[in-house]
Amino acid sequence: MPGLVIVGAQWGDEGKGKVTDLLAERADAIVRFQGGNNAGHTIVRDGEEFKFHLIPSGILYPDKTCVIGNGVVLDPRILLGEIDGLRRRGVDMSNLKISANAHLIMPYHVLLDTAGEVKLGKLSLGTTRRGIGPCYADKALRLGIRVQDLLDEKILRTKIRVALEPKQQALRELGVQRRKLRKEAGEGDREAAEQAIEDAPDPRLDLHTMTEEHVSFGHRLEPHIADTSRLCWDVLDAGRTVIFEGAQATLLDLDHGTYPFVTSSNPIAGAATIGAGIGPADIDEVWGVAKAYATRVGAGPFPTELEDDQGRHMLERGHEYGTTTGRERRCGWIDLVALRYAVRLNRMTSLAITKLDVLSGIGPLKVAVRYRSREGATLDTFPYHQSILHGAEPEYEELPGFDADIDGCRSETELPAEARAYLDYIADFVGVPIRLVGVGPGREQVVWRD
Ligand code: IMP
Repeated sequence: MPGLVIVGAQWGDEGKGKVTDLLAERADAIVRFQGGNNAGHTIVRDGEEFKFHLIPSGILYPDKTCVIGNGVVLDPRILLGEIDGLRRRGVDMSNLKISANAHLIMPYHVLLDTAGEVKLGKLSLGTTRRGIGPCYADKALRLGIRVQDLLDEKILRTKIRVALEPKQQALRELGVQRRKLRKEAGEGDREAAEQAIEDAPDPRLDLHTMTEEHVSFGHRLEPHIADTSRLCWDVLDAGRTVIFEGAQATLLDLDHGTYPFVTSSNPIAGAATIGAGIGPADIDEVWGVAKAYATRVGAGPFPTELEDDQGRHMLERGHEYGTTTGRERRCGWIDLVALRYAVRLNRMTSLAITKLDVLSGIGPLKVAVRYRSREGATLDTFPYHQSILHGAEPEYEELPGFDADIDGCRSETELPAEARAYLDYIADFVGVPIRLVGVGPGREQVVWRD
């Protein structure tokens, strides 16, 4: 398996971190290829919990190279916080490599993300407000600041100046500075406050301060900055294994997800080539990760969503709260129409199903096998048209549930027959073998199926 891609098969938070952590044991390098600190994954190692947003899950292995690829957008403040946090816990960070071509999330991107969401009001996307969309927008506009720019103060200052000007204007129009300063000035002297609002620039948007700060980030990140594509080629050419770890998930893909309720990058397997700088032929295997049910954070269509006790059960048993924003995740039955779509888009070779233990005690189990449109048409495939998807009602197949706690199971034969039948049904429906099943948060709480 020299080139193996791991992707989310649903709307994110499927447990890719845990699957990457397990497969990383057999790999030499682990590479993040898109997204930023909108992602979050938790890994439990020897009872200790580690939360990451940017650093690849393989960092806990001392002998693996961990790469933040060129396709990632990184907030240097957050990354340095993560590096420091891990160092304090005794984790060796010398194997962390950062692409010189990765783009930086700047303070104005975060402000613009929030301002954009506030402006959209009821139509907001529910972004993580981490500046992801505005940063990728600048990348496409060729106004982005890249990691390598941190190493040259003159270039950095010029690029920030050019990028900053339209942002200041946009933010002024969106009224962000006004609202913020009004809050700070309080209700006391309204007139003076209004004047202060007019006069005062947002300190986060000062060219000088921003440049100085980022030069110092550059000094600290310099030992990690590298030509990471070349690094991947060297490992692959030596016949050793590289894992390309996706963030977010297929249905949040900018091109193929439920646009506009998506992220601003491409989390599907094909994007590993662009986001890591490898060729399509370097990919030998694609593993998709799906929960035994489904969740979604933020707005957007979710045909199998449950707003009842069963949804509540999934939320509570599954601790379905976002790692990044702490938001409650929306929960529902597994959607096999959407999963089959994800299997094909990513050309998955294997599936990992996580959190099967959460379904114990809520049988019969439902799996969505087709949709019914508003007009009554049967839809066997994931609709490409937004309005059709928004009106799609799932039709379910009911399968027997199981009541036993399965968190102690370590082999397939220990799983209740109903749980095995559930897995077989999913694998048959989507046409991909399930090779790993998660039965609890711990690293050891897995059942290998092949
Ligand atoms: P953004 O990526 O912050 O721009 O948010 C766009 C959409 O993607 C929102 O619905 C977010 O909730 C969702 N999203 C972004 N990152 C993740 C993730 O890691 N897990 C789940 N949803 C995510």
